[in-house]
Amino acid sequence: MKILIDKLVQGGLGLGKSKDGKKVFVPFALPGEEVKIRIQKQTKDHDFGLIEEIISKSELRTNPSCPHYYVCGGCQLQHVSKEGQIKLKESILCENLQRIGKVDDFELKSPVFKDPWEYRIRAQFKTFMGKAGFFMRSSRNLVDVSKCPILHPSLEGLLPWIRELSLKNPQLKECHATFYPGANEIALKLIGSVEELNPPSNVVGVGIYLPSGERLKLIGRGFGFISACGANYKIGLDSFLQINYKMWDDFIKTAVGEEIQGRVLELHCGAGFFSVFLARRADSLFSSDINSLAVEDARYNLMLNGIKAQVRALKGAEAILSVESDTLFVNPPRGGLDNGEIRAIKLKRPKRIIYVSCNPATLARDVNALRGFYKLRWSRLVENFPHTYHIESVNFLDGI
Ligand SMILES: C[S@@+](CC[C@H](N)C(=O)[O-])C[C@H]1O[C@@H](n2cnc3c(N)ncnc32)[C@H](O)[C@@H]1O
Repeated sequence: MKILIDKLVQGGLGLGKSKDGKKVFVPFALPGEEVKIRIQKQTKDHDFGLIEEIISKSELRTNPSCPHYYVCGGCQLQHVSKEGQIKLKESILCENLQRIGKVDDFELKSPVFKDPWEYRIRAQFKTFMGKAGFFMRSSRNLVDVSKCPILHPSLEGLLPWIRELSLKNPQLKECHATFYPGANEIALKLIGSVEELNPPSNVVGVGIYLPSGERLKLIGRGFGFISACGANYKIGLDSFLQINYKMWDDFIKTAVGEEIQGRVLELHCGAGFFSVFLARRADSLFSSDINSLAVEDARYNLMLNGIKAQVRALKGAEAILSVESDTLFVNPPRGGLDNGEIRAIKLKRPKRIIYVSCNPATLARDVNALRGFYKLRWSRLVENFPHTYHIESVNFLDGI
């Protein structure tokens, strides 16, 4: 069957329509391309197709750099040029804001991006019987990865040791590795039991964890230090870390701009990545996160950078209800703001919101939920995840 691809949708799939009008999702197909496909899977509402031939090629198409690309589930957009990825991600962001968010008169500010390779400094390697890598596309089978061009070379260089570790310790399920650039150190979270270790010399700490997330043991140091925009941070193994170190400075400058005014309440502060800079612009800062280990790091990091601010382990909704603020700064996980947070915002109505989002679908849902109370003024793509379908953006909502 031949179809024309209309657009790229979240997840990095091309979307077209069959002759009878049914939606067909086609991995690796790009908008404007005519492709010959074979139907792989059918549901009532839509089908999935596999490309057999590209009849007309998009000018955004390029050759992937990674030898594992079409098998490994880690990346979805390596077949698109760097400029093409940005263009497609911007159109997904806008389409979500228009269709789900029901807004169309906002400004799309120019995208923020850097070199798209070797940027990733935290990775979750899956391991099994001497293999190490990532899950295959749409499967829980492991791709034994020899190269990963989006990983920092220091993490890629760890792969032979992880393979050996997995061979000697068959109970090992995952190895989560964080590279601390500058210090040139690595800390590891190992999931599953491990008897024999012998880590490379730049590994400063190893935590052994149960699959439930409970830490059983720590050997060495469970944290490392990073610098961004001239500030220093201690980042523990259990605190969130923005994984694209090449974007850190620009990300902070984009998110913490002139809209930060008066009394600032920050939810989802993690280890205080933005807090240091929010505090410098704000009259006062109150930061919070549900993860008490991250809150400990954030407190330490504010002190380390000579900043006075309150940091508390609180759920977002509790923080909004208990702290008076003019500017609300949020950076929720992929699920977006929860119902309690939305209800609390509508009740307390801070004057403005900076919403740092890693998922345009939940961002748009939340923008829609806040309609009538806030107006989206601008949105800006921050390319934190080149070659993958993930879309980060900074958004400014003004109180009505
Ligand atoms: C995307 S991370 C951002 C962290 C931080 N802003 C940064 O840039 O490093 C999201 C954070 O939200 C926190 N979180 C998740 N659910 C929460 C909730 N209901 N209330 C408060 N914080 C929550 C997580 O612990 C995590 O630190």
